[in-house]
Amino acid sequence: MRGDTDEAIFLKDYAPTPYLVEKVELDVLFKPDRTRVRALLTLVPRDTTEPGTPLELDGDALTLDSIAVDGLPLALTAYKETEAGLTLIEPPHKRFVLETNVWLEPENNTELMGLYRSSGTWCTQCEPEGFRRITYYLDRPDVLAPFKVKMTADRQLAPVLLSNGNLVDQGQKDDGMHFAVWEDPHPKPAYLFAMVAGDLGSIHDSFTTMSGRDVALGIYCEHGKEDRCAYAMDSLKRSMAWDEKRFGREYDLDIFNVVAVSDFNFGAMENKGLNIFNDKLVFAQPETATDADYASIESVIGHEYFHNWSGNRVTCRDWFQLCLKEGLTVYRDQEFSMDERSRPVNRIEDVRQLRQIQFPEDGGPLAHPARPDNYREINNFYTATVYEKGAEIVRMLATLLGEADFRKGLDLYFERHDGDATTIEAFIAAFEEATGSDLQQFQQWYLQAGTPELKVTDRYDPETQTYVLELTQSTPPTPGQSEKQPMVLPIKFGLIGPNGSEMNWDTVSGGEVRDDMIVMNTPSLALTFTGIPNRPVPSLLRGFSAPVKLKTPLEQDDELFLARHDSDPFNRWQALQDVATRLMTEAVAGTDWSDADLDGIASALEETLASKDLDPAFKANALALPAEQTIARAIGQDIDPARIHAVRDALISGIVSRLAETLEKLYLTNDSRLSYSPDFKQAGRRAMKNAALSLLVAGGTAHGPRLAREQYERAQNMTDRIAALTPIVTAWTPDAQALLGDFRTMYTADPLVLDKWLALNAAAPDEGVIGRIKAILADPSFPRNNPNRLRALMGTFAMRNPTQFARADGAGFRLVSEFVADVDTRNPQVAARVLTAFRVWKMYEPTRRAAAENALKSLKESGDLSRNTAEILDRTLAG
Ligand code: BES
Ligand code: ZN
Repeated sequence: MRGDTDEAIFLKDYAPTPYLVEKVELDVLFKPDRTRVRALLTLVPRDTTEPGTPLELDGDALTLDSIAVDGLPLALTAYKETEAGLTLIEPPHKRFVLETNVWLEPENNTELMGLYRSSGTWCTQCEPEGFRRITYYLDRPDVLAPFKVKMTADRQLAPVLLSNGNLVDQGQKDDGMHFAVWEDPHPKPAYLFAMVAGDLGSIHDSFTTMSGRDVALGIYCEHGKEDRCAYAMDSLKRSMAWDEKRFGREYDLDIFNVVAVSDFNFGAMENKGLNIFNDKLVFAQPETATDADYASIESVIGHEYFHNWSGNRVTCRDWFQLCLKEGLTVYRDQEFSMDERSRPVNRIEDVRQLRQIQFPEDGGPLAHPARPDNYREINNFYTATVYEKGAEIVRMLATLLGEADFRKGLDLYFERHDGDATTIEAFIAAFEEATGSDLQQFQQWYLQAGTPELKVTDRYDPETQTYVLELTQSTPPTPGQSEKQPMVLPIKFGLIGPNGSEMNWDTVSGGEVRDDMIVMNTPSLALTFTGIPNRPVPSLLRGFSAPVKLKTPLEQDDELFLARHDSDPFNRWQALQDVATRLMTEAVAGTDWSDADLDGIASALEETLASKDLDPAFKANALALPAEQTIARAIGQDIDPARIHAVRDALISGIVSRLAETLEKLYLTNDSRLSYSPDFKQAGRRAMKNAALSLLVAGGTAHGPRLAREQYERAQNMTDRIAALTPIVTAWTPDAQALLGDFRTMYTADPLVLDKWLALNAAAPDEGVIGRIKAILADPSFPRNNPNRLRALMGTFAMRNPTQFARADGAGFRLVSEFVADVDTRNPQVAARVLTAFRVWKMYEPTRRAAAENALKSLKESGDLSRNTAEILDRTLAG
């Protein structure tokens, strides 16, 4: 197999390159059929480099045309073209200029790494190892150099020529060609290099930084779509202002450009001064984008912009350190969105995402530390663990240190490492030194995989008025790590008295408690609180202050009490989720809920909905019952997804039969006719109203399907239209087929909206879904190479259709594994990503487990898999 020969790369083998790159000058000629890249690299051996040390340059899919050192063509014996690139056998032992000329075929680049064409536009993606597909280079993040690039192309075909940094020259040639020269004064690793050449429209604006410099802002896109870029521009300006205000970080070039392209493997990329975006994260208009789309645009625009400091000014020494930039930047973008919207509601949504995606990863065969110590294919490590757990680690650091000290540490980190390629250890050291704290044990969070479990029991003694909380932590074994160390857990908490208000205590002993935070760093802990007049209800892990699985001592009544009274909104939401999850897991195990159980949860929900001091967006989250996958995880083994689906439906019906009137009233009184605005307040009302509508349909009420159909038909914005269609399709009501057809016809011209149609089709749990997907894939007009289309259809099916993906007859598993084998021949990254859906396969009951294993094994036998897919497959089978 393609992927089989590759050995793992280990962090412990890190060594700096024997040669440094002092300067990079590129001359790129874009022609319709192929592109020529002439590179002049100024190289110099390190002081410690022995004369005669070979120079090994990375290269992939390049056709070498000529090669010279200091202007003299190299003899064939002086260099070697290898599988991985090019070796200069005995380079000069002094500063020298290496010139290479290579040809590329961006037309045929379906992997979308390096230089490729998207709808005619030439664009690049270099992170993590794409630059070696543009020219021979030391393609690793610890090699930093200033870049200058001359781009030449046909004036008609590519009037727009963009790269990093500042435009220093441009001009016309007499053969219909023109050129632009871009120079980036900031030394950077090659992964931040970018070029765009094409016929694009654009919008422009400007931002004045805190020191008074004007930055010209531009967003480039397909002609005719300029008016869809306004929200992205607005988000960009707010991001720039926020990073100055919150973290004192100012932008450092005179230009900041964003380009939207329609073929892109990821969400977006932080290239210095020239971010490239998947167009779905730029384009927004009320008729075509949902509130959730607007929120994603804001957060991803923020994320990529914030990388300018956390990633670009301070970058990673090697790819093992990826979460140094990604975890920190996700933390920063989460904080940005929280400040722009709602702290508690955003927190709920971030945690839901963490549990839905990162927890299963961390508890399955693909578990790895936030900083891994080996990999076969680095592209497989852009994971929820690196990103989302990485962000949680930074968040815990902020919680433990407090806002002021956290800021001191971060300032020192940016100041000390500006212009560096650095490590997690250096990051932690900056916080230790700035604040005088010892963070050595805390650092385990980066090194140890697995989600810690925190078990809590309690005792109250009315005689002595003392209350005891006993806490125990343990982390389950993960692949390659059987022994685990205790972690440092910041546990925000409160004790709630019978009247619903916070209780104080006289003394607390047995462990470290700072105001409202327990700092646990041992395997177990028993805290004794004195001066407690009544048995309290503990509210633990407020705001989800540590990414653990919490087992509380609470019974249902206590949870319902917290749902009503907790001053921490996160835990109010959590308590409702816990009650629902318990009812469902018990029912799956054979113990049905009682009428009293349903009355209890229904009335807690009713009170939540009636509350004057909770946001509508919070209420929407309260109405969303735990997902099927969440229940599966709570059960943990011998999963039968069909049974979980049925139980969840039954619980919804039970609750809705008690709340139908309330929900209908909530729906009707909040169905606003205001003209659309994506702001948090209006979006929150829509979310709440649509959550009610969704329950009215899912709960099988008489009016639900009609209300949904009417909303679908008269909707003035995409949020309302899709929110009406989704429950109809999920419940597969008699309207489903016709409305799906209508939606498809209405939006044939808009690929991003058609993605929503693909996803709706793929997520529906009806028996017909596999047939529908096969028909879509067989349609010759289906764009088989576009990542957004592929992910909308097959990513959604594999990840968000738990019953049909895991059909007992194995048809869902086979559909996905055959798709992976096919797509892998063209785009290994998309293929490997979809394949990760199998990471839960060992949790299924025996029939499904065997069916999943069969599908995986036949994929293994199907032949020549990419390194990406081979690695995921082997780890999934082994784990
Ligand atoms: N640096 C990444 C882009 C990237 C992802 C490069 C994977 C190579 C491989 C960028 O900053 C990023 O993290 N993008 C995310 C979105 C972000 C908001 C989490 C993405 O593309 O999914
Ligand atoms: Zn990022």
